[in-house]
Amino acid sequence: MRTHYCGQLRAEHVGQTVTLFGWVDRRRDHGGVIFIDLRDRSGISQIVSDPERTPESYLPAGDLRNEYVVKITGRVTQRPPDSLNPRIPTGEVEIYADQIELLNAVRKPLPFQISVSETESVREELRLKYRYLDLRRERMSHNLQLRHQVIKAIRRFLEDQEGFIEVETPILTRSTPEGARDYLVPSRVNPGEFYALPQSPQLFKQLLMVSGFDRYYQVARCFRDEDLRADRQPEFTQLDMEMSFMDQEEVLALNEKLVCHIFKQVKGIDLPSPFPRLTYAEAMDRYGCDKPDTRYGLELVDVSDLMKDSGFKVFSGAVSSGGVVKVLPIPDGNAAISNVRIKPGGDLFREAAEAGAKGLAYIRVRENGEIDTIGAIKDNLSEAHKQALLERTGATEGHLLLFGAGDSPTVNKTLDRIRQFVARELQLIDPEKINLLWVTEFPMFEWNADEQRLEAMHHPFTSPFLEDAHDLKTARAQAYDIVFNGFEIGGGSLRIYQTELQKQVFEAIGLSDEEAQSKFGFLLEAFEYGTPPHAGIAYGLDRLVMLLAGEESIRDAIAFPKTQQARCLLTNAPSEVDGKQLKDLHIATIQKPKT
Ligand code: AMO
Repeated sequence: MRTHYCGQLRAEHVGQTVTLFGWVDRRRDHGGVIFIDLRDRSGISQIVSDPERTPESYLPAGDLRNEYVVKITGRVTQRPPDSLNPRIPTGEVEIYADQIELLNAVRKPLPFQISVSETESVREELRLKYRYLDLRRERMSHNLQLRHQVIKAIRRFLEDQEGFIEVETPILTRSTPEGARDYLVPSRVNPGEFYALPQSPQLFKQLLMVSGFDRYYQVARCFRDEDLRADRQPEFTQLDMEMSFMDQEEVLALNEKLVCHIFKQVKGIDLPSPFPRLTYAEAMDRYGCDKPDTRYGLELVDVSDLMKDSGFKVFSGAVSSGGVVKVLPIPDGNAAISNVRIKPGGDLFREAAEAGAKGLAYIRVRENGEIDTIGAIKDNLSEAHKQALLERTGATEGHLLLFGAGDSPTVNKTLDRIRQFVARELQLIDPEKINLLWVTEFPMFEWNADEQRLEAMHHPFTSPFLEDAHDLKTARAQAYDIVFNGFEIGGGSLRIYQTELQKQVFEAIGLSDEEAQSKFGFLLEAFEYGTPPHAGIAYGLDRLVMLLAGEESIRDAIAFPKTQQARCLLTNAPSEVDGKQLKDLHIATIQKPKT
């Protein structure tokens, strides 16, 4: 029987006989004495086998190799002063092995080293193919245990302190309106018909409010067929919540308590509360994005009014055609960023171009506030305009001013991207900082240029501010996102619970009565039977864990993730299926199999 986990042993256990199970992390032969680092999910213990003190275990110890699975019984002993290891929690003790039993050997060469002492980085493809081995490694084992701690803290808080009930909702369901493509599942017993996997439990959680569940939550798997990025997976997990009879202030206060509880339980950190808030308009104005990283400054400055009558056509033209001119002032940017990097071919130029900008105009502030410009700006911007720029931006000697001019979405996208790029490049981000904030008052809709129609910015069940409801097209939504160091970790809203208003919103996004009925008729009908005012939110659990673990990829917060091509390299999914299966499902594929 196991008496302890490897990572548990301390000086207080000295003298005890213990039995450990685990994997050989490393075996070292020191002139007759064999040392084994034995590893399990909790950490490492040093096992000693000495031909004189522990002759019974000496032969088996000699045969052990990395990753063999063993059972070890032995006596916990204080390490001599010269072999204490303060780098590991068990570093004060070692176990003299009376017995070593080999439970299983490794029969193939390991695809990569697993030992905690191994620092070499392994290709992600290989890690994903042999994920079960990757998960043995310290980093991933730690991340998954952290994930467990986060979910445990959430359950304890919501259930024990706040009276929430977890309810599971269907996976085989109808399309839910989160704006991505659906994953479809054909129905064998209903030829030609399909289920959609849920993009979120949105509709069901609102229905649960109609049913009177009042405070619901779920650790819910969601599926979205969208282009993948480092912080997106096709299959991901939300902490999904819905509450009745709460206004926005109550929702935000409850959620701040929840987030503070998670940080305290998992990281031992007391977060300052209340969290700062920015309206969407403010966030876009100051940072050019709705999920700003506020761990560093580099705020944008709108200079459209100053530039509208300037002689520099790029600026004045942008303003006269309804666009904006904004500046990203970079203190000490002169020394750090050369002209070559801003001009075509340079890395800053490339970043700007990828955001849709044609280029980056710039100005440098030299000694005594002297302004240094080149190119068209030099000849066309008057001294007065230059001075006005300095005053507005507060730029002083050493500042580099980077300009974005054009339509507002492109300018914001460009300067947001450059702002983040520069912050990373100039190492302005303190990795120890934790900035959580709310972004509120989103617009109800955004313009979808491809489809030439308005689209719900969150989803079409989001309530407008009632004072804005007379003109839905420009109304602000009672919606909120929670942002953690520049990542959107959650979002939600107060919901519409009156049929009439819901119909108007459907109309605004161009959904006809018939379409609305066919897609959401069941919800609209439910609203007729006494629906409480309700609100909710969903967190991206994988993203939250990724950030708490200090990882840069969401894949490092998920046990068995998919690649950017939505493939599982371990099981080789997706895969072709045999013709009989397709026939049963009434499916014919027009895609030729790959040869
Ligand atoms: P939303 O679509 O904003 O809201 O999703 C909520 C949170 O889920 C995370 N998220 C993702 N994480 C990983 N991979 C993805 N592909 C992915 N997509 C989203 C984000 C996001 O903030 N039903 C609403 C919530 C509500 O109104 O209650 C919803 O799903 O962190």
